[in-house]
Amino acid sequence: MPKIFVTRKIPEAGIKLLRKKGYQLKISPHNRVLKKEEIIKAGKGSHALLCLLTDKIDDRIMAGIGSQLKIIANYAVGFDNIDLKAAKKRKIMVTNTPGVLTTAVAEHAVALLFAVARRIVESDKFTREGKYKGWEPMLFLGSDLLGKTLGIVGLGRIGFEIAKRMSQGFDIKIVYYDLFRNKKAEKELRIKYLPLKSLLKNADFISLHVPLLPQTRHLIGEKELKIMKKTAFLINTSRGPIIDEKALVRALSKKIIRGAALDVFEFEPKLAPGLSKLDNVILTPHTASATEETRAKMAEMAAKNIIAGLSGKKPPQLVEI
Ligand code: GLV
Ligand code: GLV
Repeated sequence: MPKIFVTRKIPEAGIKLLRKKGYQLKISPHNRVLKKEEIIKAGKGSHALLCLLTDKIDDRIMAGIGSQLKIIANYAVGFDNIDLKAAKKRKIMVTNTPGVLTTAVAEHAVALLFAVARRIVESDKFTREGKYKGWEPMLFLGSDLLGKTLGIVGLGRIGFEIAKRMSQGFDIKIVYYDLFRNKKAEKELRIKYLPLKSLLKNADFISLHVPLLPQTRHLIGEKELKIMKKTAFLINTSRGPIIDEKALVRALSKKIIRGAALDVFEFEPKLAPGLSKLDNVILTPHTASATEETRAKMAEMAAKNIIAGLSGKKPPQLVEI
């Protein structure tokens, strides 16, 4: 029977499917990120590896697990943690979990947008600390969404769902930037394409939805932050390194932009020095897809990819390069 190594406990929905196939399943008993050597040691002899975005799967790990390794199923939509070239060279299939987490991430980005615009976290802290002494005309003034412009950088599945939700519900104007223009979406959602620089210049809220690639690393750096409005808010639920986080800390402390809400960090779980001291930023620990429903679907999808791959079929979510 094929052997599967799962690098950390994931929802039972996926584990159940793998057990039903009778595979020899080994799940890491440690509820933490494994070291490279630990993955190799525990994964040695496996035919499939079910891993997380926190596992950096490189050529050395693939070699260490052995030439019987057929498939690496990432429990995430992003797959920047896997060396795809090495996998290709070794004829190992790589799969991800697109689609099932689209709305969960879109909903989280929308939640962050509202939270940062209305200063929800700061106000909550203030109230809990007993500082609320009565209604005040100028207490925690935030920013309306009505009549503003939301700039979506990357109109993939997630960017599209945010555009759909925000354009239909909140009377906010939507502009987007992407490598590819999507005329159908422009018509359907009444959104407008702008080159990145004009988007940065014109948007009041900017939400990032691009994958991490060499070309998108530090897509938002000091120069871009300076192009943005002084009143702009930046939201990131994609990958941390899309933003130069040190430059963002500087921009937030010098009020070059008004605020930010981040679910991902350049060197996560580490935060750039000074980031957590700022009042005008909201931080969540990479939980944009963390709903019970979505995480269960991701687990099922990763399991189904493995089942297909090990039965000699093309996995439904094969990452092709
Ligand atoms: C989460 O960040 C994912 O890529 O699924
Ligand atoms: C987003 O990229 C998704 O696949 O859902």
